[in-house]
Amino acid sequence: MKNILKEVLEESKKYTEEGNVASYIPELKKANRDDVGICIIDRYNNIYTEGNYSTKFTIQSISKVIVLAMALMDNDWSYVFSKVGMEPSGDPFNSIMKLETNDTKRPNNPMINAGAIVTTSLIKGDSAEEKEARMLNFFRKLAKNDSLQINYDVYKSEKLTGDRNRAMAYLLKNDGFITGDVEEVLDLYFKQCSIEVDTVDLARIGINLASYGVDIETGERLIRKDISRMVKTFMVTCGMYDASGEFAIRTGIPAKSGVGGGIVASVPNTMGIGVYGPALDKKGNSVAGIKILEDLSNRLELNIF
Ligand code: DON
Repeated sequence: MKNILKEVLEESKKYTEEGNVASYIPELKKANRDDVGICIIDRYNNIYTEGNYSTKFTIQSISKVIVLAMALMDNDWSYVFSKVGMEPSGDPFNSIMKLETNDTKRPNNPMINAGAIVTTSLIKGDSAEEKEARMLNFFRKLAKNDSLQINYDVYKSEKLTGDRNRAMAYLLKNDGFITGDVEEVLDLYFKQCSIEVDTVDLARIGINLASYGVDIETGERLIRKDISRMVKTFMVTCGMYDASGEFAIRTGIPAKSGVGGGIVASVPNTMGIGVYGPALDKKGNSVAGIKILEDLSNRLELNIF
């Protein structure tokens, strides 16, 4: 396995110059474009790492998967899906267009920003502080890492420049998909995106989803089985935005990307994979990360279809 990871990582490094680090959130520009890291945790809890596997980065859109699981645990699923749809949008992650042109004006799915802001608004808690504490605690449990923290520089950077998300959130409130205080919902959304992780954290989240929500070491149930299924299905259909179709054909693994450069992948009953490579393609997915997952899928026969 170690040799495979070395080779796959070396091969992927050739592609980093085709991408660019995210710049629309100013703080993300600081990442090193050529970094590439991998971590795999298999169902027997073997951990394999390579390259910049312990470099910290913000989880960004990968958080949408975890917050969706939480929203589905906090609310009846029919209520959740009355506020956010189940269909791929085929649009970029930050598109606002369909909030106006969809029949229902409901966001297409919980993986695009508009849908994710809705799922964030569904997290339960008596105060903003309680919601934030519950959210961070759930991330820590899924990553099995009590030291996960919000990167406040990235959070402030997002909050200052997140006017597109702000515009969507106000539209969503106007159309009845968000209730309560819009700024409070956005604040929690920016915080969830700014949680700092490394590839080991992502691989752990991946194996927890791959094992249908059961911690493989302790046997503790972290997520309901039906919810872990729903979440992985969204990863296949919408996890890589308007590149989800091609990624599913080439790789056949449920995965979710973030503009911080991370991708979490979850191979049911087999392994969780975390990859990092902050050079992104035009659709906001890690160039090296996609290449690594494609190569690993071929070499380890991970395609679930
Ligand atoms: O709201 C945003 O635009 C970012 N916090 C997250 C976007 C993201 O990660 C898209 N993923 N590829």
